[in-house]
Amino acid sequence: MQRRDFLSGSLALAGTALISPRLTANELPSPPDWDQGVTDENYWNAVRAFYTRPEGFINLENGYFSHQPASTMASHQQREKDINTRTSVFMRTEQQAVIENAREALANFLKCDTEELALLRNTTEAMNIVIMGFPWKKGDEVVLGNQDYGSMTEAFQQAAKRFGIVLKYAQVPLRPRNEEDIIDAYTRLFTRKTRMVHLTHLINLSGQVIPVAKIAVEAKKRNITVAVDSAHAVAQLEFGIPDLQADFVGASLHKWLCNPLGSGFLWIRKEFIPQIWPLMGDTSQPVNNIRKFEHVGTRPIHTLQCIADSIAFHNKIGSELKEKRLRYMMQYWTSKVAKQPKVHINTPWEDTARCGAIANVAIEGYTAGKLAEVLFSKYRIFTVAIEHPAINGIRITPHLSNTIEDLDALVNALTEISSG
Ligand SMILES: Cc1ncc(COP(=O)(O)O)c(C=O)c1O
Repeated sequence: MQRRDFLSGSLALAGTALISPRLTANELPSPPDWDQGVTDENYWNAVRAFYTRPEGFINLENGYFSHQPASTMASHQQREKDINTRTSVFMRTEQQAVIENAREALANFLKCDTEELALLRNTTEAMNIVIMGFPWKKGDEVVLGNQDYGSMTEAFQQAAKRFGIVLKYAQVPLRPRNEEDIIDAYTRLFTRKTRMVHLTHLINLSGQVIPVAKIAVEAKKRNITVAVDSAHAVAQLEFGIPDLQADFVGASLHKWLCNPLGSGFLWIRKEFIPQIWPLMGDTSQPVNNIRKFEHVGTRPIHTLQCIADSIAFHNKIGSELKEKRLRYMMQYWTSKVAKQPKVHINTPWEDTARCGAIANVAIEGYTAGKLAEVLFSKYRIFTVAIEHPAINGIRITPHLSNTIEDLDALVNALTEISSG
């Protein structure tokens, strides 16, 4: 069977699975004490019951976006039906109140002020607002990372052509000896012309977490603004916006918060709101109003309505326990293969401050593409090949819907491949 046929067949099957409309986040049992809870498989089975697992393959590529728990999915479908039934009456009379409720729920979750939070479609949109809307002057310098997400790098490259800004790339080490190694990779590039440093909070290629706040403090000493792409960190790691010491933070909610596709946010420190141009023209809002960034036209409001449902499910587990469980899953498989001959882990997987769910692995003699293909065709394990100038390997992203048996299957496959 062709890979495409196999995938579409199994996904179609998964799509027919019934969702119980009664299932709400409240039906999830309260978690056990976190230090025992991390390995309490009875509890994680109860969490897994909220997810529809695909049939016919093991999905270890949950980093692209995360599937929603049944409670969120049921709410999404019900709200979509309601909006589709009441159409423009809903949009003209209730839309804005829904957006404001979602803003409040998300601001509580992120521990920030509602008046600094714009509800958008994804991280790409959020960071483009900052990159394209910043009041650049020709010759301004930006320090970004060599492993930043492609869309942000491209946006900066376009801004360099358009506004004449100069880009300097910090070379982030794959296996830093210590935190100073990472901080120094950025700060050594700061000059009197640096206006912004762009940080990827949790690097999608490798899973490495960088010390955002410490770099931000160094930037602030030099009057440099700090923009953070937190796409993978929000709801994977436990933190609040103030912890980052940043000026701009963007993220997607369809990743680790498990909200439906097409939801994200941009947080902007209040003093910077008037200085940033919205991506879509807006003159209806005062320049200091965060809502000027939400002028995106007609949009699926039911996706925003679900933010409170997604937060309720997340909070029922708790940020601390979820982060620890995800890291436990990553360390479960990495610790079993790291010492095998020919296996290289491209993630500082032993350092709890530097990683979460994601890790990247390479096997000598295999390109990343070949390894991903063998894992899928022979072992029915879906991963993604990362072929990037800074890193070459496959990215493994387990999520709460995965079982320990899924990870054992990965360990067995990697062991067979590396010793074959
Ligand atoms: C680090 C990082 N930033 C930004 C994005 C873009 O997210 P979105 O496509 O939701 O805008 C991704 C997507 O995987 C990512 O990994």
